[in-house]
Amino acid sequence: MAVIIDGKAISAKVREEVRKETEKMTVKPGLAVVIVGEDPASKVYVRNKAKACGEVGFYSEVHELPENTSSEELLTLVDKLNSDDKIDGILVQLPLPKHLDEKTVINAISPDKDVDAFHPVNVGKIMIGDYDFLPCTPAGVMRLLEETGIQVAGKNCVVVGRSNIVGKPQAMLLLQKNGTVTVCHSKTKDLVEECRRADILVVAIGKAKLIGADYIKPGATVIDVGMNRDENGKLCGDVDFESVKDAAGAITPVPGGVGPMTIAMLMKNTLRAAQKAGKK
Ligand code: GUN
Repeated sequence: MAVIIDGKAISAKVREEVRKETEKMTVKPGLAVVIVGEDPASKVYVRNKAKACGEVGFYSEVHELPENTSSEELLTLVDKLNSDDKIDGILVQLPLPKHLDEKTVINAISPDKDVDAFHPVNVGKIMIGDYDFLPCTPAGVMRLLEETGIQVAGKNCVVVGRSNIVGKPQAMLLLQKNGTVTVCHSKTKDLVEECRRADILVVAIGKAKLIGADYIKPGATVIDVGMNRDENGKLCGDVDFESVKDAAGAITPVPGGVGPMTIAMLMKNTLRAAQKAGKK
């Protein structure tokens, strides 16, 4: 049976670090979260982000805009937040409704307040290893590995999924830690074979329980970024936890693995943005 990596406990540790730092400050870090439309999953995420802000002592604002918000209206709000000194971090929850162009909105966020690290300036900085913010989910995965004592250097690291939010930056962070990194995607010829070479396997594809025991090298570390519903409506990852847990050396559960880390790293990024803005 694998070591179960407890994302809830590690996330609590990170948030406590942020809370302690924030306690020493006279001007509190501020996060603005913007959500457009009624996507129920996004609403839960946004509520959890605002709650986490309260717990670490941040100022926070949630801007809930209707589904039919125009691009101009959204960009005007982003502009206003860009020049608001109370606000150090701006997060526009994705996905946006179809009529809004995500790229245009991300590009409008000041790179100094881009606590998601989605702006091309921040993506470029990550590429050359000279960054202010790391994207929250991949950074959370790296912290889970570190806290579990799993070395990356020299390991075969396989990332399944190549999204801009997770797969691509995850590959870059593993490479920075001197892993030998392979990125797999929907056109990969033999996914099972690629995954079976992984000492560290990170899966972020959004397909419920796709990865079974046959994909796993015995003793491998398996990090499941997926968040899906199974046939009974129960939350599950991209990894079939029950079948993989005996083959893996360490594994993250869903829920309670990577998910809680994303919010913890968002708190870290917001604190860093505030410190960079000169708040003390
Ligand atoms: N939607 C799903 N994950 C994320 C995230 O990390 N940031 C934002 N802005 N939207 C998301």
